Amino acid sequence: MKSMLEKYDLTTEQAGAGSGKNLACSGDILQSISPIDLKPIGKIRCASKSDYERITSRATQAFQTWKRVPAPKRGEIVRQIGERLRDQKNSLADIISLEVGKIRAEAEGEVQEMIDMADFAVGQSRMLYGLTMPSERLGHKMFEQWHPLGPIGVITAFNFPVAVWSWNAFIAMVCGDTVIWKPSSKAALTAIAVMKIIWPILKDNDLPDGILNLVIGDRNSLGEALIHDPRLPLISATGSVSMGRHVSRIVASRLGRTILELGGNNAIIVTPSADLELAIRGILFGALGTSGQRCTTTRRVIVHRDMYEIFCQSLIVAYQQIKIGNPFEKEVHMGPLIDAQAVQIMQTAMKRIKEQGGRILYGGQVLSGGIFDTGTYVTPCLVEADPDLPILKKETFAPILYLTRYSTIDEALRYQNSVPQGLSSAIFTTDLRESEIFLSHRGSDCGIANINIGTSGAEIGGAFGGEKDTGGGREAGSDAWKTYMRRQTSTINWSGKLPLAQGIEFGIK
Ligand code: UN1
Repeated sequence: MKSMLEKYDLTTEQAGAGSGKNLACSGDILQSISPIDLKPIGKIRCASKSDYERITSRATQAFQTWKRVPAPKRGEIVRQIGERLRDQKNSLADIISLEVGKIRAEAEGEVQEMIDMADFAVGQSRMLYGLTMPSERLGHKMFEQWHPLGPIGVITAFNFPVAVWSWNAFIAMVCGDTVIWKPSSKAALTAIAVMKIIWPILKDNDLPDGILNLVIGDRNSLGEALIHDPRLPLISATGSVSMGRHVSRIVASRLGRTILELGGNNAIIVTPSADLELAIRGILFGALGTSGQRCTTTRRVIVHRDMYEIFCQSLIVAYQQIKIGNPFEKEVHMGPLIDAQAVQIMQTAMKRIKEQGGRILYGGQVLSGGIFDTGTYVTPCLVEADPDLPILKKETFAPILYLTRYSTIDEALRYQNSVPQGLSSAIFTTDLRESEIFLSHRGSDCGIANINIGTSGAEIGGAFGGEKDTGGGREAGSDAWKTYMRRQTSTINWSGKLPLAQGIEFGIK
């Protein structure tokens, strides 16, 4: 463990802010605790408000330089970052597993997601396309251009401590924006490790400090400073619905932009024509990956009544084979939850399930003995539940999966869409009509709708995000880059006359 931390020089007290190099900070001390054994793994001196101020003024200054660098040259810097991440994939994955308890394979997947994002952004740097439009006026040309937006704020959660930052940061970089990152306090060391990997690349390219910035500290001081700051035209935030509502209100009141990626309550519909083996595998990864702590985690399965019994039996058998333990061990499927509070929240949900008449089919216990004495390891839980139970409308960030029966596809879709959140959804079917209905306007109301794939594990090439309480934001691929830039529409008159649009005559004789 020590050697993993030594690799990035993380064993001594760390500065909780930086802009190309560390900045001596004056905030409180934050202990980073591994959920694997509840041992402290690092000590961070958080950024105070005045440290935040220094960082943000650097980000604001650096924007003036960075926005002048041609976009493909900005892409070249992101290419170098992607290369460095390729080299560091294993050691960065170690820090992720250590700090947030993700199994090693998923931690490596997360770094791979950053690498993919870098590759995508490099290509995008030559494709910041604007449209041209035919002007209604003779001898006029009309078109649009996309310009860099400014320093932007990125708030990320513990469960994807680095990938979600890279979705934002790499796109923002090629768009010419500078980035101020406030990571989750539960994943602070991982954020510091990433900056230690990347900052030297900026220096080696003679770029000024302030392009990629880090501020670690609590939500009440730093988070508030960030969202209220009129210098930041865009805040991209990942986290809970209540956090998102607050961020949205504050940023909207200063007419800023937000990208919100909030709660999910994702369902999989299993139809009579489904390939059951595929469905079970998709559900297992969807429900148990990252110990049920992804926003794309499968939280509900809606199964056709004719196959419900056989499906439940197969799923219970599969759950019995899930190995829970130290995320560094190869055969382990599920590591710990992030902390004792997360376990507490799961236990409270279990109580509510029973009160509301849900039937526990499997699991839901807090494990004990040996490594499990931390109280952070749980058995994943299967619950048979009526779709109207109030608890089903809530996202509990834990491995609890609700199973519900349906009779007709319309009923299944009604259940699927009956929750406030709208992030991800899936159907397992080999029936063409069912899959087309699911993808049509009368089908899934989510930002992500999959056929014969689970709800989690999206590729970066598509736009990621969802509707309703999920917040409506889109990050990563497709044309998500447009939110990181400002659009300018221009008309050039080369006619030698001055005709007005809409044919208006306005002249003096
Ligand atoms: C999140 O949980 O916030 O689609 C992001 C997925 C991952 C990203 C999840 N690529 O599950």
